Amino acid sequence: MSHPNFPQGLSIDATGDRPVYQQVAIQIQGVIGRGEIVSGDRLPAIRVLAAQLGLHRDTIALAYESLASDGWVEARVGAGTFVSPSRGGTGEVGDVIDRIAGAAAEAGGEVGAEMTLSKQVEQLIAIDNMRPRYATGDDVVALHRLIPDPRFYPVDEFRSCIDQAIREEGPALFSYASPEGDPRLRRAMAARFRSHGIDLNADELVLCHGASQGISLALRLFTEPGDQVAVEVPTYTNVLSALAGLGLSPAPVSMDEMGADPEALDRVLSKPDVKAFYTIPSFHNPLGTTMPIERRRQVLDVAKRHGVPVIEDGFELDLRFRGEDGPPLAALDDSDNVVLLFSFSKSLFPGVRVGSLSAHGRALEGLVALKHATDLSDALPLQAGLARFVESGAYDRHLARMRRLLRSRHKAMDEALGSSMPEGTAWTKPEGGYQLWVELPFEVDTRDLLADSARAGVLFSPGASFMPEARPSRAMRLTVACADEDEIHRGVTALGEVVRSSRSVRSSAGRAAGIHL
Ligand SMILES: Cc1ncc(COP(=O)(O)O)c(C=O)c1O
Repeated sequence: MSHPNFPQGLSIDATGDRPVYQQVAIQIQGVIGRGEIVSGDRLPAIRVLAAQLGLHRDTIALAYESLASDGWVEARVGAGTFVSPSRGGTGEVGDVIDRIAGAAAEAGGEVGAEMTLSKQVEQLIAIDNMRPRYATGDDVVALHRLIPDPRFYPVDEFRSCIDQAIREEGPALFSYASPEGDPRLRRAMAARFRSHGIDLNADELVLCHGASQGISLALRLFTEPGDQVAVEVPTYTNVLSALAGLGLSPAPVSMDEMGADPEALDRVLSKPDVKAFYTIPSFHNPLGTTMPIERRRQVLDVAKRHGVPVIEDGFELDLRFRGEDGPPLAALDDSDNVVLLFSFSKSLFPGVRVGSLSAHGRALEGLVALKHATDLSDALPLQAGLARFVESGAYDRHLARMRRLLRSRHKAMDEALGSSMPEGTAWTKPEGGYQLWVELPFEVDTRDLLADSARAGVLFSPGASFMPEARPSRAMRLTVACADEDEIHRGVTALGEVVRSSRSVRSSAGRAAGIHL
């Protein structure tokens, strides 16, 4: 949706004595006081108002904070800032953004010239504005984060690999690469894929700027704006954004603890508008679950029967910490119907921005052409350094350490949940990766617990973040990525208290233990 401008008469005096954030806050108080916006109305998103007034977002955030601390407005994490019941009076609740148009144009002069953005981008902005904003401090336990713990980044070893690459390859390293990326890294990666049972040559791999770019390229390979893509529910938040950005919409496929339900998938893939199926069969994000081999075969059969390609996201494939490695869908596929994504972001560090796509035949040709059309090539020095890091065995040593760490942290998490969460809470037991899914045994939208839990010193990702249209959910995703055993214990204890006290003010309607997806 496009946002017109803020209240009649709102103006900023940059030369005045009063700080700008106070000027904004006082004028919004006036708007509320005059009843121009009423209890329950949503204020414009911080970034929207900041853009309209030509101010920094922090200034608007400060104005909203000061209004909140004086009781004029309430911030609902993930939903926005609303006029408080105690201040706003009652009246017809309308879309405040539409009624407060005009003044910023008078105040800033520039606003009338705001560009018209594409429908897709407007939708992306709306999704972005729904994301929870996390206030992190040193003493907050970050159980929402899904990046490897920076305390374990092998920076020195990686630097010497880059140095070595530059010494050996000189200026050639600073030119464009082929769109497929550094051949040496592709060879090293193909050898590793073969160890996962995927019969792959280096020339069937296209390197890309993280799995994120891989997701977009794979979606573009099979779809056109207006099409639908089958996704598991819940699913990775950014895939929902990627769909919106490409003018696509999600076709939800329900799941159980083994992954996508084959019957639901069958129904969804029979719709002619559905052009691909995006799935995370190993160490699912957000669930943490892994699809058993039998289910993998069923899912592949269904997709093959409908002639719908599968985009398999293997973003944490290297992070199994217990149990036996099962074959990825790409290894079981006998009809070249799977595009496999991989990433070094979670097993090494995200800043290296190296992911890969593997495919065959026309799909491979299409990916190379798309990659070339998108950004010509990735940065060679990082890829060449990474090639040496993998070849030298440093990557495997690092992985061994990460797997030990994951095993120990997940054990701590399981114990902490067992001792701190109310009876009936259910959670998944991952065999790899960082994330797990916790479902509360009573009706609640976990977005409503975020503010209290941040105050109690712990952060989590509310289930709604992983649902199409941000549907409310009683679940949350936790991760063990950036919290050690002590921090996990402290964080989950605090979370347990928040959950218990919220339960006492809600209906106690329970559910049988178990994940209800
Ligand atoms: C399921 C999934 N796929 C892909 C990515 C993107 O990773 P990358 O950093 O490689 O772009 C993420 C990041 O969190 C993820 O959770």
